[in-house]
Amino acid sequence: MGPALDHGSLALIAYESGSSEVRQTVIAGNWKMHMSCAETRSFAASFRPLIANLPDDRQIVLAPPFTAIPTLCRHLEGAGVAIAAQNVHWEDQGAYTGMVSAPMLVEHGVSHAIVGHSEPRKYFSESDEQINLRARNAQRHGLIPILCVGESLDQREAQETERVIHRQIEQGLDGVDPLQLIVAYEPIWAIGTGKTCPAEEANRVCGLIRRWVGQEDLVVQYGGSVNPATIDGLMAQEQIDGVLVGGASLDPISFARIVNYQAPVPA
Ligand code: 13P
Repeated sequence: MGPALDHGSLALIAYESGSSEVRQTVIAGNWKMHMSCAETRSFAASFRPLIANLPDDRQIVLAPPFTAIPTLCRHLEGAGVAIAAQNVHWEDQGAYTGMVSAPMLVEHGVSHAIVGHSEPRKYFSESDEQINLRARNAQRHGLIPILCVGESLDQREAQETERVIHRQIEQGLDGVDPLQLIVAYEPIWAIGTGKTCPAEEANRVCGLIRRWVGQEDLVVQYGGSVNPATIDGLMAQEQIDGVLVGGASLDPISFARIVNYQAPVPA
């Protein structure tokens, strides 16, 4: 983590550093509580040919529900798609009914784990401290955490966006290796609403996140109503290194259009 900063002044700071030559582009799909094993097989059969000619500058990650992980791994084997879990516990084993641990995921070939998504924050009252423990244990087992951060509409309207995200970053990443990490900026008001955050604003916040983490090579994604119509504009932004896609990742054709986004032609 970089030094703690004064949130009050952060909104005024424009992040001027250019895009990194070495940052990877990571396009991830979060299926949430969708997709049976039969639906997963059908998705994989349709999706695979659509990514056969993907430019090698981008990585695809898919996060199915736990139950569909083995099916997705099997049916996308060799297709160059990394598999993520939608959450991960902070202990390796124990009396935690309903939970899944990092070693259990690694055994299935999972390489990434979403932590701190706004839905478990909201529905299961996940705290920044628990999210931090999840990220740390994920890394201990070689999983790359995808830490989600983002403000609610009320917080945005109250000019609290920077303060909220700074706190989520500071507490969520305590003791976490920033070199084995992805952060996803997911404004809650943009999730599942069809209201994609304007690309320039998403770019501004992603730049702030990279600056707060203090790691120029950090991959920062944007998430919230990303779809085939908005992807090219988002990916044209310097500070946005990829996206975390919900609803539009359930359809192989729309997700394939997103991963095959049109990169801007260099000036
Ligand atoms: P939508 O793309 O459906 O808005 O969901 C975003 C999200 O929550 C991804 O994690």
